[in-house]
Amino acid sequence: QIIILDFGSQYTQLIARRVRELNVYCEIFPFYDAPDLTPDIKGVILSGSPCSVRDEECPQIDLSKYRGKVPLLGVCYGAQYLAQKNGGEVAPSEIREYGRAKLSSFNEQHPLMKGISHNSHVWMSHGDTIKKLPENFEVIASTPSVEVAAFTVTDEYTYGIQFHPEVTHSTEGKQLLKNFLVEICNCAQDWTPSVFVDASIAELKEQLGNDKVVLGLSGGVDSSVAAMLIHHAIGKNLYCIFVDNGLLRKNEFEEVLASYKHMGLNVKGVDAKNQFYTALKGISDPEAKRKAIGKTFIEVFDQEAKAIKDVKWLAQGTIYPDIIESVSVKGPSATIKSHHNVGGLPEKMNLKVVEPLKTLFKDGVRLVGKALEIDQKILGRHPFPGPGLAIRILGDITPEKVAILQEVDSIFINMLKERGLYDDVWQAGAILLPIQSVGVMGDERTYERVVALRAVGSVDGMTADWMHLPYDFLSDVSNDIINKVKGVNRVVYDISSKPPATIEWE
Ligand code: XMP
Repeated sequence: QIIILDFGSQYTQLIARRVRELNVYCEIFPFYDAPDLTPDIKGVILSGSPCSVRDEECPQIDLSKYRGKVPLLGVCYGAQYLAQKNGGEVAPSEIREYGRAKLSSFNEQHPLMKGISHNSHVWMSHGDTIKKLPENFEVIASTPSVEVAAFTVTDEYTYGIQFHPEVTHSTEGKQLLKNFLVEICNCAQDWTPSVFVDASIAELKEQLGNDKVVLGLSGGVDSSVAAMLIHHAIGKNLYCIFVDNGLLRKNEFEEVLASYKHMGLNVKGVDAKNQFYTALKGISDPEAKRKAIGKTFIEVFDQEAKAIKDVKWLAQGTIYPDIIESVSVKGPSATIKSHHNVGGLPEKMNLKVVEPLKTLFKDGVRLVGKALEIDQKILGRHPFPGPGLAIRILGDITPEKVAILQEVDSIFINMLKERGLYDDVWQAGAILLPIQSVGVMGDERTYERVVALRAVGSVDGMTADWMHLPYDFLSDVSNDIINKVKGVNRVVYDISSKPPATIEWE
Protein backbone atom coordinates (compact mmCIF):
# COMPACT_ATOMS: atom_id res chain seq x y z
CA GLN A 1 0.00 0.00 0.00
CA ILE A 2 0.84 3.67 -0.27
CA ILE A 3 0.62 5.98 2.70
CA ILE A 4 -0.30 9.62 2.43
CA LEU A 5 0.83 11.91 5.20
CA ASP A 6 -1.62 14.75 5.63
CA PHE A 7 -0.36 18.22 6.46
CA GLY A 8 -3.87 19.67 6.37
CA SER A 9 -4.38 20.35 2.66
CA GLN A 10 -7.90 20.55 1.29
CA TYR A 11 -6.69 18.22 -1.49
CA THR A 12 -5.38 15.31 0.64
CA GLN A 13 -8.49 13.19 0.18
CA LEU A 14 -8.32 13.88 -3.53
CA ILE A 15 -4.79 12.43 -3.69
CA ALA A 16 -6.11 9.30 -2.00
CA ARG A 17 -9.00 9.02 -4.43
CA ARG A 18 -6.71 9.32 -7.43
CA VAL A 19 -4.38 6.65 -6.06
CA ARG A 20 -7.37 4.35 -5.50
CA GLU A 21 -8.63 5.10 -9.02
CA LEU A 22 -5.29 3.76 -10.20
CA ASN A 23 -6.18 0.52 -8.36
CA VAL A 24 -3.57 1.00 -5.67
CA TYR A 25 -4.64 0.83 -2.05
CA CYS A 26 -3.67 3.78 0.11
CA GLU A 27 -4.41 5.22 3.51
CA ILE A 28 -4.17 8.72 4.94
CA PHE A 29 -2.37 9.42 8.23
CA PRO A 30 -2.00 12.74 10.04
CA PHE A 31 1.60 13.99 9.81
CA TYR A 32 1.94 13.65 13.60
CA ASP A 33 0.88 10.01 13.52
CA ALA A 34 3.03 8.64 10.68
CA PRO A 35 3.26 4.83 10.81
CA ASP A 36 6.57 2.98 11.02
CA LEU A 37 7.85 1.52 7.79
CA THR A 38 6.63 -2.04 7.15
CA PRO A 39 7.31 -4.23 4.08
CA ASP A 40 3.79 -3.64 2.70
CA ILE A 41 4.39 0.13 2.45
CA LYS A 42 5.55 0.66 -1.13
CA GLY A 43 5.72 4.45 -1.10
CA VAL A 44 4.94 7.61 0.84
CA ILE A 45 3.25 10.81 -0.38
CA LEU A 46 3.51 14.06 1.57
CA SER A 47 0.45 16.29 1.06
CA GLY A 48 0.16 20.03 0.70
CA SER A 49 -0.72 22.31 3.59
CA PRO A 50 -2.31 25.68 4.27
CA CYS A 51 0.92 26.50 6.21
CA SER A 52 4.20 27.89 5.01
CA VAL A 53 7.46 26.02 5.68
CA ARG A 54 8.85 29.42 6.67
CA ASP A 55 6.46 29.61 9.58
CA GLU A 56 8.07 28.49 12.87
CA GLU A 57 4.89 26.70 13.87
CA CYS A 58 4.63 24.80 10.59
CA PRO A 59 3.93 21.04 10.69
CA GLN A 60 7.16 19.11 11.28
CA ILE A 61 7.94 15.48 10.72
CA ASP A 62 11.00 13.29 11.08
CA LEU A 63 11.30 11.63 7.68
CA SER A 64 14.40 9.58 8.53
CA LYS A 65 12.32 6.42 8.87
CA TYR A 66 11.38 6.68 5.17
CA ARG A 67 14.13 8.62 3.42
CA GLY A 68 16.25 6.39 1.24
CA LYS A 69 14.29 3.27 2.27
CA VAL A 70 11.08 3.78 0.31
CA PRO A 71 10.08 6.13 -2.55
CA LEU A 72 8.86 9.48 -1.29
CA LEU A 73 6.86 12.10 -3.20
CA GLY A 74 6.31 15.56 -1.72
CA VAL A 75 3.44 17.58 -3.20
CA CYS A 76 3.49 21.38 -2.82
CA TYR A 77 4.16 21.92 0.92
CA GLY A 78 5.60 18.39 0.99
CA ALA A 79 8.07 19.36 -1.75
CA GLN A 80 8.96 22.68 -0.13
CA TYR A 81 9.45 20.96 3.20
CA LEU A 82 11.90 18.45 1.65
CA ALA A 83 13.82 21.27 -0.04
CA GLN A 84 14.01 23.53 2.99
CA LYS A 85 14.88 20.85 5.55
CA ASN A 86 17.86 19.78 3.44
CA GLY A 87 19.45 23.17 3.08
CA GLY A 88 17.47 24.66 0.19
CA GLU A 89 15.70 27.99 0.24
CA VAL A 90 11.96 28.62 0.18
CA ALA A 91 10.68 32.19 -0.13
CA PRO A 92 7.38 33.95 -0.79
CA SER A 93 6.69 33.95 -4.53
CA GLU A 94 7.12 37.27 -6.26
CA ILE A 95 4.44 36.55 -8.78
CA ARG A 96 1.20 34.80 -7.98
CA GLU A 97 1.51 31.09 -8.48
CA TYR A 98 -2.14 30.13 -8.49
CA GLY A 99 -4.01 28.41 -11.27
CA ARG A 100 -2.97 27.02 -14.61
CA ALA A 101 0.66 26.78 -15.75
CA LYS A 102 2.47 24.82 -18.45
CA LEU A 103 5.31 22.36 -18.02
CA SER A 104 7.48 24.06 -20.60
CA SER A 105 10.60 22.01 -20.06
CA PHE A 106 11.30 18.74 -18.36
CA ASN A 107 13.56 15.72 -18.37
CA GLU A 108 11.73 13.41 -20.76
CA GLN A 109 13.85 10.43 -19.73
CA HIS A 110 12.83 10.67 -16.10
CA PRO A 111 10.49 7.86 -14.97
CA LEU A 112 8.25 10.38 -13.17
CA MET A 113 7.70 12.18 -16.49
CA LYS A 114 6.94 9.13 -18.64
CA GLY A 115 4.15 9.85 -21.14
CA ILE A 116 3.79 13.52 -20.10
CA SER A 117 3.43 15.87 -23.06
CA HIS A 118 5.33 19.05 -23.65
CA ASN A 119 3.42 22.10 -22.28
CA SER A 120 1.14 19.87 -20.23
CA HIS A 121 -1.21 21.93 -18.04
CA VAL A 122 -0.57 21.78 -14.32
CA TRP A 123 -2.38 23.44 -11.45
CA MET A 124 -0.40 25.61 -9.06
CA SER A 125 -1.69 26.79 -5.72
CA HIS A 126 1.01 28.14 -3.46
CA GLY A 127 2.21 31.39 -1.96
CA ASP A 128 5.77 30.13 -1.41
CA THR A 129 8.24 28.89 -3.94
CA ILE A 130 11.51 26.96 -3.91
CA LYS A 131 14.21 29.52 -4.71
CA LYS A 132 17.24 27.28 -4.33
CA LEU A 133 17.54 23.52 -4.19
CA PRO A 134 19.93 21.74 -1.81
CA GLU A 135 23.18 20.50 -3.34
CA ASN A 136 22.30 16.95 -4.27
CA PHE A 137 18.83 17.86 -5.61
CA GLU A 138 18.13 18.21 -9.36
CA VAL A 139 15.36 19.99 -11.25
CA ILE A 140 13.33 17.66 -13.46
CA ALA A 141 10.59 20.00 -14.66
CA SER A 142 9.95 23.74 -14.97
CA THR A 143 7.19 26.12 -15.97
CA PRO A 144 7.88 29.59 -17.44
CA SER A 145 7.58 31.16 -13.97
CA VAL A 146 8.54 28.30 -11.64
CA GLU A 147 11.96 26.84 -12.26
CA VAL A 148 11.61 24.07 -9.69
CA ALA A 149 8.22 22.64 -10.70
CA ALA A 150 9.56 19.14 -9.97
CA PHE A 151 12.81 17.86 -8.50
CA THR A 152 14.53 14.65 -7.50
CA VAL A 153 17.19 13.84 -4.96
CA THR A 154 20.25 12.33 -6.63
CA ASP A 155 20.66 8.59 -5.98
CA GLU A 156 17.50 8.47 -3.93
CA TYR A 157 13.87 7.70 -4.83
CA THR A 158 12.76 11.02 -3.36
CA TYR A 159 10.83 13.57 -5.42
CA GLY A 160 9.05 16.85 -5.00
CA ILE A 161 6.47 18.61 -7.17
CA GLN A 162 5.22 22.12 -6.54
CA PHE A 163 1.98 21.70 -8.52
CA HIS A 164 -1.02 19.56 -7.63
CA PRO A 165 -1.22 16.38 -9.77
CA GLU A 166 -4.40 15.27 -7.95
CA VAL A 167 -6.71 18.00 -9.29
CA THR A 168 -8.31 17.51 -12.69
CA HIS A 169 -6.96 20.89 -13.86
CA SER A 170 -3.55 19.18 -13.97
CA THR A 171 -4.51 17.37 -17.13
CA GLU A 172 -1.80 14.72 -16.97
CA GLY A 173 -1.56 14.68 -13.20
CA LYS A 174 -2.98 11.19 -13.03
CA GLN A 175 -0.29 9.96 -15.42
CA LEU A 176 2.34 11.50 -13.17
CA LEU A 177 0.86 9.81 -10.10
CA LYS A 178 0.71 6.57 -12.05
CA ASN A 179 4.39 6.97 -12.92
CA PHE A 180 5.23 7.39 -9.25
CA LEU A 181 3.12 4.40 -8.21
CA VAL A 182 4.00 2.00 -11.00
CA GLU A 183 7.42 3.01 -12.38
CA ILE A 184 8.94 4.09 -9.08
CA CYS A 185 7.10 2.28 -6.27
CA ASN A 186 6.46 -0.90 -8.32
CA CYS A 187 2.82 -1.05 -7.23
CA ALA A 188 0.89 -3.78 -9.06
CA GLN A 189 -2.40 -1.87 -9.63
CA ASP A 190 -4.32 -4.93 -8.47
CA TRP A 191 -6.57 -3.31 -5.88
CA THR A 192 -9.95 -3.68 -7.59
CA PRO A 193 -13.53 -3.70 -6.28
CA SER A 194 -13.80 -7.48 -6.66
CA VAL A 195 -10.53 -8.00 -4.78
CA PHE A 196 -11.94 -5.76 -2.05
CA VAL A 197 -15.19 -7.76 -2.00
CA ASP A 198 -13.44 -11.15 -1.71
CA ALA A 199 -11.01 -9.93 0.96
CA SER A 200 -13.77 -8.21 2.96
CA ILE A 201 -16.04 -11.24 2.92
CA ALA A 202 -13.19 -13.47 4.13
CA GLU A 203 -12.31 -10.96 6.85
CA LEU A 204 -15.93 -10.56 7.96
CA LYS A 205 -16.37 -14.35 8.17
CA GLU A 206 -13.35 -14.55 10.41
CA GLN A 207 -14.32 -11.55 12.54
CA LEU A 208 -18.00 -12.37 13.00
CA GLY A 209 -17.97 -16.18 13.09
CA ASN A 210 -21.41 -17.35 14.16
CA ASP A 211 -22.31 -14.08 15.90
CA LYS A 212 -25.50 -12.23 15.14
CA VAL A 213 -25.26 -8.75 13.66
CA VAL A 214 -27.89 -6.01 13.46
CA LEU A 215 -27.86 -3.27 10.83
CA GLY A 216 -30.12 -0.29 10.16
CA LEU A 217 -30.95 0.04 6.46
CA SER A 218 -31.85 3.47 5.15
CA GLY A 219 -32.50 2.85 1.47
CA GLY A 220 -29.24 4.67 0.69
CA VAL A 221 -26.16 3.35 -1.07
CA ASP A 222 -23.84 2.97 1.94
CA SER A 223 -26.07 0.94 4.23
CA SER A 224 -27.24 -1.22 1.31
CA VAL A 225 -23.71 -2.08 0.19
CA ALA A 226 -22.57 -2.70 3.79
CA ALA A 227 -25.55 -5.03 4.27
CA MET A 228 -24.83 -7.04 1.12
CA LEU A 229 -21.16 -7.51 2.01
CA ILE A 230 -22.04 -8.81 5.47
CA HIS A 231 -24.88 -10.88 4.03
CA HIS A 232 -22.39 -12.63 1.74
CA ALA A 233 -20.22 -13.38 4.78
CA ILE A 234 -22.76 -14.52 7.38
CA GLY A 235 -26.13 -14.92 5.60
CA LYS A 236 -29.14 -15.11 7.88
CA ASN A 237 -27.17 -14.07 10.96
CA LEU A 238 -27.43 -10.53 9.64
CA TYR A 239 -30.62 -8.92 10.89
CA CYS A 240 -31.55 -5.77 9.00
CA ILE A 241 -34.02 -3.22 10.29
CA PHE A 242 -35.61 -0.68 7.99
CA VAL A 243 -37.58 1.97 9.87
CA ASP A 244 -40.42 3.93 8.29
CA ASN A 245 -40.09 7.27 10.06
CA GLY A 246 -42.97 8.79 8.08
CA LEU A 247 -40.50 11.20 6.47
CA LEU A 248 -39.50 9.11 3.46
CA ARG A 249 -40.43 9.76 -0.16
CA LYS A 250 -43.79 8.59 -1.53
CA ASN A 251 -44.00 4.75 -1.61
CA GLU A 252 -40.31 4.55 -0.78
CA PHE A 253 -40.72 2.31 2.25
CA GLU A 254 -42.66 -0.35 0.35
CA GLU A 255 -40.53 -0.22 -2.80
CA VAL A 256 -37.16 -0.29 -1.07
CA LEU A 257 -38.28 -3.00 1.35
CA ALA A 258 -39.33 -5.13 -1.63
CA SER A 259 -35.95 -4.69 -3.33
CA TYR A 260 -34.10 -5.59 -0.13
CA LYS A 261 -36.14 -8.77 0.17
CA HIS A 262 -35.45 -9.49 -3.48
CA MET A 263 -31.72 -9.18 -2.73
CA GLY A 264 -32.13 -11.99 -0.19
CA LEU A 265 -31.61 -9.81 2.89
CA ASN A 266 -33.15 -10.81 6.18
CA VAL A 267 -34.94 -7.50 6.70
CA LYS A 268 -37.72 -6.34 8.99
CA GLY A 269 -39.72 -3.25 8.07
CA VAL A 270 -40.89 -1.29 11.08
CA ASP A 271 -43.74 1.18 10.78
CA ALA A 272 -42.86 3.86 13.36
CA LYS A 273 -44.51 6.81 11.59
CA ASN A 274 -46.71 7.80 14.49
CA GLN A 275 -43.87 7.68 17.00
CA PHE A 276 -41.90 10.14 14.85
CA TYR A 277 -44.89 12.44 14.21
CA THR A 278 -45.58 12.55 17.96
CA ALA A 279 -41.95 13.35 18.75
CA LEU A 280 -41.95 16.13 16.13
CA LYS A 281 -45.24 17.71 17.09
CA GLY A 282 -45.00 21.47 17.38
CA ILE A 283 -41.22 21.60 16.74
CA SER A 284 -40.08 24.16 14.12
CA ASP A 285 -36.38 24.63 14.84
CA PRO A 286 -34.27 22.60 12.35
CA GLU A 287 -31.73 21.37 14.90
CA ALA A 288 -34.47 20.47 17.38
CA LYS A 289 -36.19 18.47 14.61
CA ARG A 290 -32.95 16.61 13.88
CA LYS A 291 -32.47 15.84 17.59
CA ALA A 292 -36.05 14.58 18.00
CA ILE A 293 -35.69 12.35 14.93
CA GLY A 294 -32.28 10.99 16.06
CA LYS A 295 -33.59 10.22 19.54
CA THR A 296 -36.72 8.51 18.25
CA PHE A 297 -34.69 6.47 15.77
CA ILE A 298 -32.45 5.19 18.57
CA GLU A 299 -35.49 4.25 20.68
CA VAL A 300 -37.16 2.37 17.83
CA PHE A 301 -33.97 0.68 16.66
CA ASP A 302 -32.89 -0.27 20.18
CA GLN A 303 -36.24 -1.88 20.87
CA GLU A 304 -36.14 -3.87 17.64
CA ALA A 305 -32.52 -4.93 18.17
CA LYS A 306 -33.28 -6.13 21.69
CA ALA A 307 -35.95 -8.39 20.25
CA ILE A 308 -33.18 -10.30 18.43
CA LYS A 309 -31.73 -12.81 20.85
CA ASP A 310 -27.99 -12.68 21.55
CA VAL A 311 -27.08 -10.03 19.02
CA LYS A 312 -23.41 -9.06 19.45
CA TRP A 313 -22.59 -6.60 16.69
CA LEU A 314 -23.94 -3.39 15.25
CA ALA A 315 -23.01 -2.90 11.58
CA GLN A 316 -22.76 0.59 10.13
CA GLY A 317 -22.28 1.96 6.63
CA THR A 318 -19.61 4.44 7.77
CA ILE A 319 -17.34 5.46 4.87
CA TYR A 320 -13.76 6.76 4.79
CA PRO A 321 -14.45 10.52 4.72
CA ASP A 322 -16.53 10.07 7.91
CA ILE A 323 -13.59 8.72 9.86
CA ILE A 324 -10.45 10.35 8.53
CA GLU A 325 -9.47 12.91 11.05
CA SER A 326 -9.46 16.34 9.52
CA VAL A 327 -5.91 17.28 10.35
CA SER A 328 -5.35 20.40 12.30
CA VAL A 329 -2.06 21.94 11.27
CA LYS A 330 -1.43 22.75 14.91
CA GLY A 331 -1.09 19.06 15.75
CA PRO A 332 -3.06 16.49 17.65
CA SER A 333 -4.25 18.75 20.44
CA ALA A 334 -6.51 20.87 18.25
CA THR A 335 -10.05 19.87 17.39
CA ILE A 336 -10.46 16.72 15.37
CA LYS A 337 -13.69 15.67 13.69
CA SER A 338 -15.55 13.33 15.97
CA HIS A 339 -16.03 9.76 14.87
CA HIS A 340 -19.19 9.51 12.86
CA ASN A 341 -21.93 7.15 13.90
CA VAL A 342 -25.70 7.03 13.87
CA GLY A 343 -26.51 9.44 16.68
CA GLY A 344 -24.67 7.61 19.43
CA LEU A 345 -26.19 4.18 18.74
CA PRO A 346 -23.16 2.02 19.67
CA GLU A 347 -22.67 3.66 23.07
CA LYS A 348 -26.31 3.20 23.93
CA MET A 349 -26.57 -0.39 22.77
CA ASN A 350 -23.37 -1.82 24.16
CA LEU A 351 -22.62 -3.71 20.96
CA LYS A 352 -19.36 -4.17 19.12
CA VAL A 353 -19.22 -2.15 15.91
CA VAL A 354 -18.41 -3.49 12.45
CA GLU A 355 -17.92 -1.01 9.59
CA PRO A 356 -16.99 -2.86 6.39
CA LEU A 357 -16.88 0.26 4.19
CA LYS A 358 -14.75 2.40 6.44
CA THR A 359 -11.80 2.40 4.04
CA LEU A 360 -13.82 3.43 0.97
CA PHE A 361 -14.76 6.71 -0.65
CA LYS A 362 -18.29 7.13 -2.02
CA ASP A 363 -17.26 6.28 -5.60
CA GLY A 364 -15.55 3.16 -4.27
CA VAL A 365 -18.73 2.15 -2.42
CA ARG A 366 -20.67 2.37 -5.70
CA LEU A 367 -18.06 0.25 -7.51
CA VAL A 368 -18.16 -2.36 -4.74
CA GLY A 369 -21.98 -2.29 -4.97
CA LYS A 370 -21.68 -2.95 -8.67
CA ALA A 371 -19.26 -5.83 -8.09
CA LEU A 372 -21.86 -7.25 -5.67
CA GLU A 373 -24.46 -6.90 -8.45
CA ILE A 374 -26.70 -4.62 -6.41
CA ASP A 375 -29.52 -3.15 -8.48
CA GLN A 376 -28.58 0.12 -10.22
CA LYS A 377 -31.86 1.53 -8.87
CA ILE A 378 -30.32 1.45 -5.40
CA LEU A 379 -26.74 2.32 -6.39
CA GLY A 380 -27.73 5.29 -8.56
CA ARG A 381 -30.06 6.91 -6.03
CA HIS A 382 -29.60 10.54 -5.11
CA PRO A 383 -28.41 11.11 -1.55
CA PHE A 384 -31.29 11.65 0.85
CA PRO A 385 -30.81 13.15 4.31
CA GLY A 386 -31.38 11.01 7.41
CA PRO A 387 -34.06 13.40 8.80
CA GLY A 388 -35.80 13.07 5.42
CA LEU A 389 -38.66 15.36 4.48
CA ALA A 390 -38.66 16.87 7.98
CA ILE A 391 -35.88 19.26 6.95
CA ARG A 392 -37.67 20.04 3.67
CA ILE A 393 -40.85 21.17 5.42
CA LEU A 394 -39.99 24.55 6.88
CA GLY A 395 -41.72 24.95 10.21
CA ASP A 396 -43.52 22.25 12.15
CA ILE A 397 -44.29 18.81 10.77
CA THR A 398 -47.74 17.33 10.33
CA PRO A 399 -48.75 14.18 8.42
CA GLU A 400 -50.81 16.40 6.05
CA LYS A 401 -47.77 18.51 5.13
CA VAL A 402 -45.72 15.35 4.61
CA ALA A 403 -48.40 14.00 2.26
CA ILE A 404 -48.42 17.21 0.17
CA LEU A 405 -44.64 17.27 -0.09
CA GLN A 406 -44.48 13.58 -1.00
CA GLU A 407 -46.80 14.22 -3.96
CA VAL A 408 -44.80 17.22 -5.16
CA ASP A 409 -41.47 15.44 -4.73
CA SER A 410 -42.74 12.36 -6.53
CA ILE A 411 -43.90 14.36 -9.58
CA PHE A 412 -40.55 16.18 -9.72
CA ILE A 413 -38.35 13.09 -9.30
CA ASN A 414 -40.42 10.96 -11.69
CA MET A 415 -40.31 13.61 -14.38
CA LEU A 416 -36.52 13.92 -13.96
CA LYS A 417 -36.33 10.17 -14.55
CA GLU A 418 -38.76 10.19 -17.50
CA ARG A 419 -36.84 12.95 -19.26
CA GLY A 420 -33.46 11.27 -18.70
CA LEU A 421 -32.25 14.04 -16.39
CA TYR A 422 -32.08 12.12 -13.09
CA ASP A 423 -28.54 10.78 -13.51
CA ASP A 424 -27.16 14.21 -14.47
CA VAL A 425 -28.39 15.63 -11.18
CA TRP A 426 -26.46 14.93 -7.98
CA GLN A 427 -29.41 15.55 -5.67
CA ALA A 428 -32.95 16.84 -6.16
CA GLY A 429 -36.01 17.40 -4.03
CA ALA A 430 -38.85 19.73 -3.16
CA ILE A 431 -39.27 22.06 -0.20
CA LEU A 432 -42.60 23.02 1.34
CA LEU A 433 -42.46 26.69 2.30
CA PRO A 434 -44.26 28.09 5.34
CA ILE A 435 -46.05 30.74 3.31
CA GLN A 436 -49.21 30.91 1.28
CA SER A 437 -49.78 32.98 -1.80
CA VAL A 438 -52.77 34.16 -3.79
CA GLY A 439 -53.68 32.41 -7.01
CA VAL A 440 -56.63 31.95 -9.31
CA MET A 441 -58.01 28.60 -10.42
CA GLY A 442 -61.07 28.73 -12.71
CA ASP A 443 -63.14 31.60 -11.35
CA GLU A 444 -61.97 31.11 -7.84
CA ARG A 445 -59.38 32.94 -5.82
CA THR A 446 -57.02 30.54 -4.02
CA TYR A 447 -54.75 31.12 -1.07
CA GLU A 448 -52.45 28.13 -0.98
CA ARG A 449 -48.94 26.85 -0.42
CA VAL A 450 -45.71 27.57 -2.26
CA VAL A 451 -43.19 24.82 -3.01
CA ALA A 452 -39.58 25.29 -4.06
CA LEU A 453 -37.80 22.81 -6.30
CA ARG A 454 -34.08 22.20 -5.80
CA ALA A 455 -31.72 20.31 -8.10
CA VAL A 456 -27.96 20.55 -7.79
CA GLY A 457 -24.85 19.27 -9.47
CA SER A 458 -22.01 18.26 -7.15
CA VAL A 459 -19.22 15.75 -6.63
CA ASP A 460 -19.35 15.24 -2.91
CA GLY A 461 -21.99 17.59 -1.53
CA MET A 462 -19.33 19.92 -0.12
CA THR A 463 -19.88 22.42 -2.90
CA ALA A 464 -22.78 22.45 -5.34
CA ASP A 465 -24.20 24.43 -8.23
CA TRP A 466 -27.88 24.69 -9.12
CA MET A 467 -28.75 22.66 -12.19
CA HIS A 468 -29.64 24.55 -15.34
CA LEU A 469 -32.68 22.37 -16.04
CA PRO A 470 -34.39 23.02 -19.39
CA TYR A 471 -37.18 25.65 -19.30
CA ASP A 472 -39.59 23.19 -20.93
CA PHE A 473 -38.98 20.74 -18.17
CA LEU A 474 -39.49 23.36 -15.45
CA SER A 475 -42.65 24.53 -17.13
CA ASP A 476 -44.10 21.01 -17.40
CA VAL A 477 -43.19 20.03 -13.87
CA SER A 478 -44.69 23.24 -12.46
CA ASN A 479 -47.96 22.69 -14.37
CA ASP A 480 -48.16 19.11 -13.29
CA ILE A 481 -47.60 19.95 -9.61
CA ILE A 482 -50.14 22.79 -9.54
CA ASN A 483 -52.76 20.76 -11.41
CA LYS A 484 -52.34 17.58 -9.43
CA VAL A 485 -51.39 18.52 -5.88
CA LYS A 486 -54.24 19.95 -3.91
CA GLY A 487 -53.13 22.79 -1.66
CA VAL A 488 -50.24 24.03 -3.85
CA ASN A 489 -50.74 26.97 -6.22
CA ARG A 490 -47.19 28.20 -6.80
CA VAL A 491 -43.86 26.59 -7.72
CA VAL A 492 -40.47 28.34 -7.57
CA TYR A 493 -37.02 27.07 -8.58
CA ASP A 494 -34.01 27.55 -6.29
CA ILE A 495 -31.07 29.09 -8.17
CA SER A 496 -28.60 29.34 -5.28
CA SER A 497 -25.21 27.67 -5.21
CA LYS A 498 -23.35 26.19 -2.25
CA PRO A 499 -21.59 28.13 -0.86
CA PRO A 500 -23.02 30.50 0.21
CA ALA A 501 -26.35 28.63 0.31
CA THR A 502 -26.56 24.97 1.40
CA ILE A 503 -28.24 22.14 -0.49
CA GLU A 504 -31.00 21.67 2.09
CA TRP A 505 -33.01 24.67 3.24
CA GLU A 506 -32.72 23.69 6.89
P1 XMP B 1 -26.16 20.80 3.05
O1 XMP B 1 -27.59 21.20 3.23
O2 XMP B 1 -25.35 20.93 4.30
O3 XMP B 1 -26.18 19.25 2.70
O4 XMP B 1 -25.52 21.49 1.88
C1 XMP B 1 -25.08 18.51 2.24
C2 XMP B 1 -25.52 17.06 2.11
O5 XMP B 1 -25.83 16.52 3.40
C3 XMP B 1 -27.19 16.09 3.47
N1 XMP B 1 -27.70 16.44 4.79
C4 XMP B 1 -27.91 15.55 5.77
N2 XMP B 1 -27.76 14.21 5.79
N3 XMP B 1 -28.49 14.19 8.04
C5 XMP B 1 -28.07 13.53 6.94
O6 XMP B 1 -27.97 12.29 6.97
C6 XMP B 1 -28.66 15.53 8.10
O7 XMP B 1 -29.06 16.08 9.12
C7 XMP B 1 -28.36 16.24 6.89
N4 XMP B 1 -28.41 17.55 6.57
C8 XMP B 1 -27.99 17.65 5.27
C9 XMP B 1 -27.89 16.83 2.34
O8 XMP B 1 -29.05 16.13 1.91
C10 XMP B 1 -26.80 16.89 1.29
O9 XMP B 1 -26.71 15.66 0.60
